[in-house]
Amino acid sequence: MSAEAALRAARALHEPVMLAEVLSVLEPGRGGTFLDGTFGAGGYSVGLLEAGAGRVIALDRDPEAVARGREWAPAFEGRLEIVEGRFGDLAELVDGPLDGAVFDIGVSSMQIDEARRGFSFMKDGPLDMRMGSEGPSAAEIVNRAEEAALADIFFLYGEERASRRIARAIVAARADAPIETTRALAALVERCLPRPKPGWPHPATRVFQALRIAVNDELGELARGLSAAESLLAEGGILAVVSFHSLEDRIVKRFLRLRGGAAPGGSRHAPAAAGAAPAFEIITRKALEPGAAELARNPRARSAKLRAARRTGAPAGAVSATALGLPALSGAARGMR
Ligand SMILES: C[S@@+](CC[C@H](N)C(=O)[O-])C[C@H]1O[C@@H](n2cnc3c(N)ncnc32)[C@H](O)[C@@H]1O
Repeated sequence: MSAEAALRAARALHEPVMLAEVLSVLEPGRGGTFLDGTFGAGGYSVGLLEAGAGRVIALDRDPEAVARGREWAPAFEGRLEIVEGRFGDLAELVDGPLDGAVFDIGVSSMQIDEARRGFSFMKDGPLDMRMGSEGPSAAEIVNRAEEAALADIFFLYGEERASRRIARAIVAARADAPIETTRALAALVERCLPRPKPGWPHPATRVFQALRIAVNDELGELARGLSAAESLLAEGGILAVVSFHSLEDRIVKRFLRLRGGAAPGGSRHAPAAAGAAPAFEIITRKALEPGAAELARNPRARSAKLRAARRTGAPAGAVSATALGLPALSGAARGMR
């Protein structure tokens, strides 16, 4: 298949979330070099290139996403470079300065829809959940972590109130046989929780979200990626982040508040460099959300939030994980990652 045909096929398969809003805040018509920190099916990269970006450097930790993208990248004649890696390592993987950087946080629809990746309780598959090829799988965490560590993960990353009950049931079940599949885990969680009322999410939703975040260290990655973007963006460069749940949005919001200079008065979360000139001017005082037409077309856009800010000329600084409000896992739970 030619690169052009592969590009047409890729575009038909996937609709990027809030693309119009992302392009309107990033202003690729200015030209210059943009980072797409979460390449996925490449929807933002294509949008940026078609709207005038001179060059896009795209990053994804998923080797399958990178391989698919490289089939059609030549259609952009050297303007799109796709790099396999984590945006937490951005500073080592990419050279600045950047005129814009965008992150579309979370899993892709291709990852969720593929049973063998183990992200979905709706499809039976191996309990994996790794976006990349490194680190322990969800099955390794579920079958090896101590009960208290599992409960921590479910509570802190999934806001699951029955975290202890579920952790206890997992430890009892795995004493008989390891829990190896998405269906086995989903069925176990279902047995621990009341039957859902119509319209409620599936009972395993929060546990699956929590495991996915733990397996991929998603919140740590986000904190490191935001700081790296701050150091790589040129003055006037724009940072845009689309997130899908409150834990992520809270980190983005706090990062922009702290690095955008508004010190929450007298709080222990005071900016790392209190008194220093702000590194960002906030563009979106309130997060942007998808419009009704997009939600009708693409229900997966539900709960998306877009925040954006423009880099000032002030030197880059550092923000601690505590100041960003990253949930503090116990040593045992941290050690499993
Ligand atoms: C929601 S999808 C992005 C979709 C993309 N905007 C598009 O239009 O096709 C998120 C992608 O980011 C990747 N990803 C998630 N965390 C990452 C990280 N820390 N470093 C690099 N890629 C990551 C996932 O593998 C996934 O392919």
